[in-house]
Amino acid sequence: MTPRPPIVLDSDPGIDDALALQYLLGTGRWDLKAYTSVGGNLPAEQTYLNARALTRAFGIDADVPVHRGAGRPLTRLPYTAATAFHGPAGLGNETLPDSTAARLPESSAQALLRLSRQYEGELTVCATGPLTNVAIALLEDPGFAHRVRKFVFMGGAAQVPGNITPVAEFNIWADPDAAEVVLSSGIPFTMVDLDASHHWLVRPADLAVLEAAGPGTALAARLLRAYMDAYQRHGGDDACPLHDPLAVGACADESYLTTAEGAVIVESTSELTRGKTVFVPSAASRVFYADSPTLTARMALTGRVALGPGPRDFTKDFVATLPRWPGVG
Ligand code: BDR
Ligand code: CA
Repeated sequence: MTPRPPIVLDSDPGIDDALALQYLLGTGRWDLKAYTSVGGNLPAEQTYLNARALTRAFGIDADVPVHRGAGRPLTRLPYTAATAFHGPAGLGNETLPDSTAARLPESSAQALLRLSRQYEGELTVCATGPLTNVAIALLEDPGFAHRVRKFVFMGGAAQVPGNITPVAEFNIWADPDAAEVVLSSGIPFTMVDLDASHHWLVRPADLAVLEAAGPGTALAARLLRAYMDAYQRHGGDDACPLHDPLAVGACADESYLTTAEGAVIVESTSELTRGKTVFVPSAASRVFYADSPTLTARMALTGRVALGPGPRDFTKDFVATLPRWPGVG
């Protein structure tokens, strides 16, 4: 049997973060070395507790360490809670029991650094929340950027409107300074943004399949129902996007996305455009004629950026994969 590659999932659970974990486990492709939590959808202590509870719900609490993330964004006030979408404690209407594992003294950023050294050149890091932990790791040791094999994150909006403001996506808006540290570090990144995630939806028919799949997907189905209801309350259709699971999917296969090579620069100085991800395609960088040292320097630090969905159907894979790793709750 070929060994499964090491991965760290860095998350702010969060409904779709929880689904991303179950999906990751269901793929059977990865050796999950740590589940590092970060504040975002809820304050850091709550996302940590949710992460712990989820490892118990998915039966991995004895094997996968959970680390607590930074208490606040790099330079700003504590995270603004997204309870309107994720529920009062972040997991819809669920109250899941805590894991019995001891709390670990090692922070999320420290765990990321340690694992990047232990699995140099092999480690995939998938981030589905604000990029605070990854930025802290990079600020402490810029070599992190070159030891990671691949860094895939859910965040940003390259060529479409935002979801927390007209121009910004939630994860990047929550800690724009961290995102800028990460995207200017030279880390080999793939940005799984709203351009792609708003295309891969769970609709009532998909939910019905998961509801009928047995007790192992009952928790996921309830979470999806709560997420769909929240999207509907906010003016959406009877459907919810698979933002965070899509990022996990793209760690293994980017054909769920259509991507282009380019730099991403994060706006953080203006309140109105805070967290806007300015995408500069490599192919077009020469057409801009304003003299911008920032832009010129950044064209050496490009990654792959999603500009839309790809040919492979992510929703279909998600619905087929989830039942392969039952959850209890
Ligand atoms: C992102 O924002 C969060 O609320 C979700 O968990 C996802 O990571 C989508 O913009
Ligand atoms: Ca998230």
